[in-house]
Formats: sequence, C-alpha cells, structure tokens
Amino acid sequence: MCGIVGYIGYRDTNPILIEGLKRLEYRGYDSAGVCILVDGETVIVKDKGKVSHLESLLDAKNVHSTIGIGHTRWATHGEPNFVNAHPHSNEEGDIVLIHNGIIENFNTLKKSLITQGYTFKSDTDTEVLAHLIDVFMKKGNKLFRAVRLALSEVEGTYGLAVISSREPNILIAARKGSPLVIGVGDKENFIASDVSALITHTKQVVYLDDGEVAEITAEGFRVKTVQDEEISKEVTEVFLTLEELDRGGYDTFMLKEIMEQPESVLNSLRGRLLLDEGTSKLGGLENVLDKLVTAKRFILTACGTSWHSGLVAEYMFEQYLRIPTEVEYASEFRYRNPIIEPGDAIFFISQSGETADTLAAMHEAKRKGALCIGICNGVGSSIARDSDSGVYIHAGPEIGVASTKAFTSQLTVFALITLLLARKKDMSLADGKIIVEEFKLLPGKIKKILELRSRIEEIAEVFKDTPNFLYLGRGYNFPVALEGALKLKEISYIHAEGYPAAEMKHGPIALVDKNMPVVFIAPKDSTYDKINSNIQEIKARKGIVIAIATEDDDRIDTIADYSIKIPGTIRMLTPILSVIPLQLLAYFIAKKKGLNVDQPRNLAKSVTVE
Ligand code: G6P
Repeated sequence: MCGIVGYIGYRDTNPILIEGLKRLEYRGYDSAGVCILVDGETVIVKDKGKVSHLESLLDAKNVHSTIGIGHTRWATHGEPNFVNAHPHSNEEGDIVLIHNGIIENFNTLKKSLITQGYTFKSDTDTEVLAHLIDVFMKKGNKLFRAVRLALSEVEGTYGLAVISSREPNILIAARKGSPLVIGVGDKENFIASDVSALITHTKQVVYLDDGEVAEITAEGFRVKTVQDEEISKEVTEVFLTLEELDRGGYDTFMLKEIMEQPESVLNSLRGRLLLDEGTSKLGGLENVLDKLVTAKRFILTACGTSWHSGLVAEYMFEQYLRIPTEVEYASEFRYRNPIIEPGDAIFFISQSGETADTLAAMHEAKRKGALCIGICNGVGSSIARDSDSGVYIHAGPEIGVASTKAFTSQLTVFALITLLLARKKDMSLADGKIIVEEFKLLPGKIKKILELRSRIEEIAEVFKDTPNFLYLGRGYNFPVALEGALKLKEISYIHAEGYPAAEMKHGPIALVDKNMPVVFIAPKDSTYDKINSNIQEIKARKGIVIAIATEDDDRIDTIADYSIKIPGTIRMLTPILSVIPLQLLAYFIAKKKGLNVDQPRNLAKSVTVE
C-alpha cells in the first residue's frame, strides 16, 4: 500500500528518495511523487505510474536538494492520476506533505476550510491537511506546532511527512495507525513507512508510536505527542540485510519465497524444539502460558492468507487442546461488538503486523480487556508491539504480494504453540517426541516437493487459459483449498473457489463439466476414503481432477487426471506440505499468462487502510 520516504542531511536527496521508493514498490501502488526544497522553493514532481517513470521525470528536471520527501500512492479517495498523486500542498505551495491512511472527517474539515476561502485541487482526503497546517502557520505557529494543532482536529489514520520552504531545515513526521520509522544517521536522518526503505543507509531506527509527531533535522530529532507532551524515544537496531531483501537470483520475489520455504520453516523452528522433553519453547509466550493453558476459548482473527492460517490453527487447537476456537475476519470482528469473556485469549495473525483491520481489531479487544497474542512476521511492527505477548514467525522479509512462506511459517508456529500447550495439558512425553521428530523432518520434505517444480509447470501449461478452477479439501486441508484458490485468483486473475469437498454437492457441482479443473487436496488421512468418493463424483460429471496426494498412493492415479505426490506427515503438519504445490501451480499459471506475479493488479502487500 502507500509508502513514505524522507531525507534530511548533506547528500543529494533524489537517489535516496528514488531508491527508498523502489524498495517500497512491493507494497503495491498506482502513483508516485517527491518534493524537494530548491533555493527556498518547493519543487514537486509526481505522476500516475511507476517509480521508474518518476525517476526519469526527476532526472529531466535536473534539480537537487539535501531535503525531500517521497511517496507511492495506492488510491483510496480519488482516482489514480497526476492531480491526486502525492505530495499535496497548500495554495501558496510552501507547505508540502505526503500521507498514508485515511482522514475520516475530511468532508467536515474541507467544508470548513472552503468557508475560510481555501480552494482544493484534488479529490484526496490528504489535501485538507496541507490547508489545515497553513491555517495554523498563518496564526504564527512554527511548522512543528502547526502540524500538531492540525492533527488534533483530524479523525482517522495517518503516516505523515511534511516539509515547508518557510522552515527549510526541518522535516516533520507523524504517525497514527499507519507505520512510520525514523532512520538515525550521522549528520543525516531518514524517515520511512517501512525499514526496508532505509536499511541501506542506517540500521539505527526509532519507531514512532500512535499520536506522536517528530521534528527531524540533519543533526537530530525530537518527538512530542499531538497534545504537546515531550517524549523520549529509544533508538533500536534492525537486523535485516540487503541480501534478504533482494531476489537472490530468482525471476521474481514470489518464486524466491516459495523456494525458500525449507529455510523459512527451519527458521520458524530454530531453537524452539526440545526433543528430550517432547515439547517446544516459545519465549514470547512464557508470561502468559498459564492463561493459555487454562483458556476457555481461543479467538483467531486476521485477514487474507493469515486468516487461512487461523482456520488451520482452529483444527490444531481443537484436536490437541480441546479448547473451543473461533476464527474471524478482523474486519468483521472489530465492528460487531464482539463478546469477550474472562478466559478468552485472542490471537492476531499478520505477516506484516500492520494490516489496519487486524490492528484495529486488536485495539478493540484490548479495550475489552482480552489477552491479545500477536503472531507476526514484521519485527517491531505495530501488532507485535501493541500485543500483550506473541511469537514471531521468523519467515524473513516477504516481498511478493501473494503470501507464501509467511503462510507455512504461520502454520509452523501454530503447530509449535499447539505442542507446547498440549504438553502442559494431557499429551504424553512419547506423543510429544513423535511430533518433535515430525517437525524436524519438515524442511527436507518441503525440499522434495519443490523438486516437483517442472511437473507442476507442465500442469500449469495445460490449464493456463482455463477461466475457472475449483479447490476442494476436507478437515485440515479445507483451509488449504481456500488458500490454493486465493493464490490462483490473486496472481493469475482466474476465478477460483475453495470449498470443503463434501459441501460441493450443495452448489459448486453444478459448475462441473468437461472443462472444469478441480484440485483435490487428498492426502492419506482419516478423510481419505471420503475424499475419494468426492473425486468419483467429479469424474462422473467429466470434471478434470488434479490431486495432491501422498507419495505411496497408487490408487489415486487410477482416478485422477493429474496427480502431484507429497511426502506424508502427521495430520496437523500436512497443510505445511500440501499448500506448496498449490503455490507453485498458481505461480506457473500466472507466469505463463505473462502477468506480474510480485505486484498483481489492485492488490497491496500491506493493507494499511480499512
Ligand atoms: C493483503 C495481502 C495478503 C495478506 C493480507 C493480510 O491482502 O495481499 O497477501 O494475506 O493482506 O496481510 P497480513 O500482513 O496482515 O498478513
């Protein structure tokens, strides 16, 4: 989604802003722009389209500065075009800003500004902020104070960066519900909405919290709350390398991330398995372990792929812990006044840790006094920081918009939590040890599945022009069917639906004919015979069956048109393996259609607006 970068120091700001914006491209955007201060004037360069287009516009202008802000926009208010692209300014053009988030009371503010004589150029909610700051500067306030006064009138969310030719040596940044981080350098400072945009320059960072505004100069920074309270902030170090952010020789980030899964799952497990005790160790949960073991109910809430991992966790928790578990979309949870009772523990699952709906759902649950556990990949992310306790999935940076390795790492972490709590409850040492052994085999088994790449690519070739797909699974593999269908529609734009296999008789079977491919996730488990009957039902209607089956299953070859064989494991861990062929199938289909798999149309990596 929208990205922010900013620089103040002694170097030419243009390459720093452009490089930072390129690092944020993966989040998804439709326009890009920068503002720099040149000879006491603000210079704005912006347009619809890619950062590379912005770069050539900026080169053509041949202007340079040592202070500037840059933005990638993902349209919320107003279509993606030149006028609506950020930066936006006041009428004189001497206060310029960029903004992530949504100003919810922008209509009221806009009407009031219009009655004061202000005119608006764009359809964005952001432009009101520029005029509002102007109002307060014209009343004699310095920029830092004017921004805080303006923000005190704003309802909604913002990650904000402001510069002004009236005070050319400062950069203002503010945050509420949309991430913003300061990068601390030597005689230079940076801001960004995501550390990946600044780690080539510095690893020393300061995370702003909601309601904080920073005044940044080349020499330092200070932070106050919107209400004018001085805040002292801690500088922390980020442990992320550039290599981790680059494509590592693969065509796309998505393929790199799929292929990385033996290591990313291993990283999720690293240091967390205790073979002798047949259990796991999760430092982040130690202070709440008793509460979790005695919990009366678990609620899991998330969006997108993370929601699917919650659905798998529901099966794990109910099978091993016998704790009633509910899974809910964060966007629904936050608005329906959820019933939260003593003994409830709520898990908030998010790769980025910044998804607006999930974060807001967590704040709502906190208000109601619930125990909030974050399951995040983004280290230092808002959900990780605001939760009571949590577990990092340690999948490493995920850049491809369609989530892959974060999903398998989320499942790994949920299985670790299940083992930990089950051993505190009634699981025997012997059973615990069997599960620990199975965990250890996972990376090797994932490697074996990845070796089937070319076989899956051949299947993709056959189906690349198919308009519809059905994905069916049962039990633990029902959420995998949903995830397989989601992967395909996200990146190939093929209509795909996931269903519990037996439920297809109540509707989707009407769609089945000789042109309809149906992907069955059919490993050998307790539902195997049932799912075989479902396959027969599809074959009887001439549907085309692609089966994800267990290695030693020869019977499936006699009924399925195509089969992809995966190694066996215990039921709880099967989804970590069965989803991988589906990720590859979606990937190759989209590639063969010539689509941009890393940045599919209309999608964003991190959805920081509701
Ligand atoms: C976006 C992404 C999805 C992701 C979802 C939730 O829609 O495109 O891949 O699953 O957000 O994101 P989160 O970071 O909270 O897991």
